[in-house]
Formats: sequence, C-alpha cells, structure tokens
Amino acid sequence: MNRDDFNLLSSGIIYFDNGATTLKPKVLSESVSDYYNNYSSNAHRGDYQMSIKTSTMYENVRKLVSKLINAKSEKQIVFTSGTTDSINKIIFGYFRYYLKEGDEVLLTKSEHASTLLPWFELSDEIGLNIKYIELDENHEVTMESVKKAISDKTKVISLAHISNVVGDERPIKDICKYAHKRGIKLLVDGAQSVPHLKVDVQDLDVDFLTFSAHKMCGPTGVGVLYVKEDIMEDVRPIIFGGGMNADFSTDKTRIYKSMPDKLEAGTPNIAGVIGFGEVIKYLNKIGFDEIHDYEIKLKKYLIKRLREIDQIKVYNENSNSGIVTINYDGIFPQDLSIYLDKYGICTRAGSHCAKILKDEINIKNTCRISLYFYNTKEEIDRLIFLLKNPKIKEEII
Ligand SMILES: Cc1ncc(COP(=O)(O)O)c(C=O)c1O
Repeated sequence: MNRDDFNLLSSGIIYFDNGATTLKPKVLSESVSDYYNNYSSNAHRGDYQMSIKTSTMYENVRKLVSKLINAKSEKQIVFTSGTTDSINKIIFGYFRYYLKEGDEVLLTKSEHASTLLPWFELSDEIGLNIKYIELDENHEVTMESVKKAISDKTKVISLAHISNVVGDERPIKDICKYAHKRGIKLLVDGAQSVPHLKVDVQDLDVDFLTFSAHKMCGPTGVGVLYVKEDIMEDVRPIIFGGGMNADFSTDKTRIYKSMPDKLEAGTPNIAGVIGFGEVIKYLNKIGFDEIHDYEIKLKKYLIKRLREIDQIKVYNENSNSGIVTINYDGIFPQDLSIYLDKYGICTRAGSHCAKILKDEINIKNTCRISLYFYNTKEEIDRLIFLLKNPKIKEEII
C-alpha cells in the first residue's frame, strides 16, 4: 500500500524493521522543511504573526492526537521526546508520590527496557515489590494470569499493549475493568499498538498511554503521553524551566501551569510535532482498520511461507500483530540479519531491549521481522527465497 509515498522504497530496499522505527513518507519532510524554511519561530512565546502561526500549528496537532486516541480533551495530551520519556515522566512524576513502600507493581518479563528500568529504579528508591505476570505457553499475557498475579498489595499494572518481541496484543480493556474495581492503575505502553490499530483510550479505560511518533511514520524525538482526566492534577513535572511555569520569585515561590504545559518544559520539538500532525492526517486517510487488516493478512502469509523451511523456528505464530520473531537452526541471529542485509533486507537481531524475556523463552537473541502497510507479499517471497538458499551457512561463515 502507498509505496510511492516513501522515497527509500524506490532504492529497492526491503524494510522489515518497523518495530524499531518506520520509514517516513514525503509529507513528513515536506512539512518539516516548510516550518524551517517559511515560519521557523518558537511556540507559545511570541506575539508576532509567525510565532502565533507556529503555536496554532503545534496546538492543532495536540487536537489531532487527542482525536486519534479518542481522548476527552487535548489537555490530556503531552508531547514528549518518545515512549521512554513518557513512561519516565509518569513513573517519576506520578507513581513516585502515589506509591509507598511495600506496594506491588505488576510487570511482565517481555516488557521493554523503557518500562522495566524506570520501575527497577523507583522500586530501589521507595521499596516497591515487583512481580511478574506469568506468560502462557505462547509467551502471551492472559486474563487468567493477570488475575492470578494480583494481590491486595497490587497498586499498578504496567505493560505494553502489544509486546515488541512476541507481538501479542494484551487484553487491556478486560485488565482495566478488573484492575480498576480493585483500585489498581494501568500504565499502558502503546509504542507497538497505536501505529498499527485503532486505539481508543476511553473504551480501553487506561490511566496512562504512551507512544512514539517515529514508529508510525513520524519524526524521531516526538512522543505522546496521555493522562486520564481525574489524574491530571496529581502528575508532577520532573523537568523544570520555561513554558511550564506561570510565575516564580526570589523567595522560591513558584506556580506551575496545569496540564499539558506543566509537563512540557523548554522549547519542544516544534518541527517534529508539526510534521507528526501531517503524518497523522496521512495515516487517517489510509485508515487504521485497513492498516491492521492488511498487516495481519501479510503476517499470515509470512508465517505460511516460513513453515516451508524446517530450520526456522517461529516464536509467535498466533500473535495479533505484524511482529514475527524467528531463529534459524545453527545460525546466530545477528549473522542471519547481516546475511539478509547483503541482499538489501533490513531485519533486527538481538534481545530487542527485552533482556529478561530470555528467562521465559530460554533464548537470548532472535531475529525479528516486523511489518507495516508498505510491505508486500513479493518482499516476503524474496526473504523466503534467501532463507531457502542451500548455501546460506557457507555464505555466513
Ligand atoms: C514496546 C516498546 N516500548 C517502548 C519502546 C521505546 O520507544 P522509544 O525508543 O521511541 O522511546 C519501544 C521501542 O522499540 C517499544 O517497542
């Protein structure tokens, strides 16, 4: 779909590393260069026309993001530098004050470092107990395992909507319903879901949602943090400076603004946010349901073709996403990735920032093929052809 919109695809490259970051359509660079060339100015600071235009453009994107995830108001949308930044802002700006020693946080072993490490840090700081929700035989999170893990000490469940290694879509709506009845908060990492399917924060009823623009055709250095309305006042800034304060004086009295400004200290990535706005309009035109359906069809085709190769082990055949994680018997995943790169195919090898998942799947490194709407069956056929190469091991050695 829409391949002509992506300059890099004309080079013949096959890009299967969309879980790491996606390719960028021309509308992104056009809108970013329009800002830099034609109205480059700061937002929320100037009283002249150009700066007012910049502020309006920037704030319009907040409205677009709010509509994209069906937030009640754009005040619930904070622009950050990415998912990692968003998660840290909530763990250290909210949970640091909300939780106390002995409280329990539920995570899974397949979470990304951007969830696990801030929780490890806060747990050392205030004495939290970290517990892991058991994964089933497909390495997935089930409602039963969530229920089993919850105790009367559980105060937070922090997990990805779709995991970046296993690609499983977690039953977030059911988890929220069950958890909220017990006063448990839900911090949901949408880095691998928002780019690929319709996500409705009111329907899911999450307390916090985080995602990154660069994983959905947008620029690097722009992320989103959504905060539920009744929690907004209790989130404290962890970065201080211009733009987030209403007043301060020599006796150190300071008045901070409300959401979202209090969490956006300093000059933001204005060009990136404006570019992200154009990308959201672009993706809306294609349609998120269409993107998801297309990716799932493509993923099924990929699985079917991978089954033709005995040496390939697929770790997540049934997951509801375009993420497919494999190993080739007798070939180190990094070597497989380097071999494919020789033929212009980009994949990702390693632990995928989920370093403790090895405790569950007993294997540290894998090779990940992650799809997006511009990938095709023909690209998959080329991948399979190269994986079937009878001399593959000789080429690698
Ligand atoms: C599930 C998940 N969470 C968080 C992140 C971190 O995103 P970023 O590097 O944009 O902050 C990633 C990136 O790979 C991810 O896949």
